[in-house]
Amino acid sequence: MAETPSAIPLEKFPQHVAMIMDGNGRWALQRGLPRLAGHKAGTENLRRVIRASVEFGVKYLTIYAFSTENWGRPPEEVKGLMYILEDVIDRELNELNKEGVQLRHIGRLERLAPSLQKKVLDAIEVTRNNDRLILNIAFNYGGRDEIVQAIQRIMKDGVPPEKVTDEMVSKYLYTAGVPDPDLIIRTSGELRVSNFLIWQAAYSEWYVTPTFWPDFNKEEYRQALESFAHRDRRYGKVASGELQESNA
Ligand code: IPE
Ligand code: IPE
Ligand code: MG
Repeated sequence: MAETPSAIPLEKFPQHVAMIMDGNGRWALQRGLPRLAGHKAGTENLRRVIRASVEFGVKYLTIYAFSTENWGRPPEEVKGLMYILEDVIDRELNELNKEGVQLRHIGRLERLAPSLQKKVLDAIEVTRNNDRLILNIAFNYGGRDEIVQAIQRIMKDGVPPEKVTDEMVSKYLYTAGVPDPDLIIRTSGELRVSNFLIWQAAYSEWYVTPTFWPDFNKEEYRQALESFAHRDRRYGKVASGELQESNA
């Protein structure tokens, strides 16, 4: 049974939540631990956040796990992050499948080791009929890369320029068929997009917290959802309340 935070009416509840899981390195540094220990703790936390998402009744969760720019980190860290993805699939797939989670991947698989690519594709296949929570894992993902690929494919398909529309571009992105994120949460306090969902985030609401990702817990997740519920999403128009007043 979905445990929607009770104070939040259903229509004020985000359908799609996206998360920039940031601050693992600083979390480790604060404790005198190697950065990879921070990534491990971050992965443990991801399990909890996925579980909380299922309990809250979030339909789509997109998590930023590895960006196209993260290849520029020291080779040992990159290797460790690849290993973590592999390990998460090995250890969590059964449980996620049982909970009704459908795994998807956004980004480029090509640059990953063939064995890891296969693991990701198999996990997608195994969970494809689940529909309780759609979990998009952004791994080797870059928003600009996604848009460049979309343009290339639109051109290859011979689409005439006047036929290119906003909706059509959306259909050429990795997130085709997925509603745009309503709420984007970024941990560790950085006030930037870092190449995440730059097209899809056009009208997303943001929640930035100084908490480092491994410490971002269910209670703070609930606070983010509550904060979202109080936002007035105007989409460039005027507030609905104001409109009623001026018509009165
Ligand atoms: C986020 O934590 C995880 C990845 C980007 C893979 P960071 O590793 O960026 O942690 P900080 O920002 O250095 O603290
Ligand atoms: C964004 O975090 C990428 C992920 C969380 C996977 P980064 O730590 O890479 O972003 P910057 O470098 O602070 O912009
Ligand atoms: Mg970071």
